[in-house]
Amino acid sequence: MSASRLPFPLTLTGDGIVLREWRSEDLDDLVAMLDEPDIARWTPMPSPFDVEAGIAYLKRAHQGRVSGQRIQLAITEDGGRPLGEVLLFGVDAGLREAELGYLVGARDRRRGLASGSLSLLSSYARSTLQLTRLLLRIDPSNTASAAVARRCGYRLTGEPPILQVGPHGPSSLDTWELLDVRGGSRLDRLKNVAARRYGRRT
Ligand SMILES: CC(C)(COP(=O)(O)OP(=O)(O)OC[C@H]1O[C@@H](n2cnc3c(N)ncnc32)[C@H](O)[C@@H]1OP(=O)(O)O)[C@@H](O)C(=O)NCCC(=O)NCCS
Repeated sequence: MSASRLPFPLTLTGDGIVLREWRSEDLDDLVAMLDEPDIARWTPMPSPFDVEAGIAYLKRAHQGRVSGQRIQLAITEDGGRPLGEVLLFGVDAGLREAELGYLVGARDRRRGLASGSLSLLSSYARSTLQLTRLLLRIDPSNTASAAVARRCGYRLTGEPPILQVGPHGPSSLDTWELLDVRGGSRLDRLKNVAARRYGRRT
């Protein structure tokens, strides 16, 4: 399937998690979940996150979904109450890569929801969307997010940090990647390119 226009609507299920489209009825749960210090600290959400911000957020989410620009799904256990969110965006169909992101409401953290949801969406991105390089951008001080990345098999690329200035001052984002095992590591790929150039395969 081409990843240039992302599928909508979409439900992904596995490991006691149901990822589903956001609904207008989710507004109160969304506001309660996003109006929280860790979300304000580590994500670009407005803070305080009020009902007006929630309405705008759900509207933008819907636009991004119907236009096929991004995947943005509520994390649930049974298709009901939203407990978090997982996203896929910035698809580069040529490079077959995309960025992913996630968050979980404070009262549902440390139950495996972020790592389960990231694993589900990463598998879907690789198998169905045929994306070979999946990326996360994480502030090195965000130990919870780095732990999620590591648990899901992502690893640091060593690329220079992306510098940004937010309400909490300047910060930098490390790039993590999940490579398609068939594609091998970046080092393996570089070795193979070099080997082909010199007439030999490693
Ligand atoms: C980061 C976040 C999504 C983690 O969600 P979660 O559902 O609690 O994560 P999980 O339960 O799947 O935990 C996965 C791993 O992270 C570890 N972890 C989770 N929170 C942690 C914390 N505060 N400190 C250290 N490790 C933590 C878990 O112990 C687990 O490790 P393990 O593999 O060794 O068992 C959540 O804390 C959050 O929403 N934070 C604010 C938003 C954010 O930072 N989003 C990411 C932006 S890059």
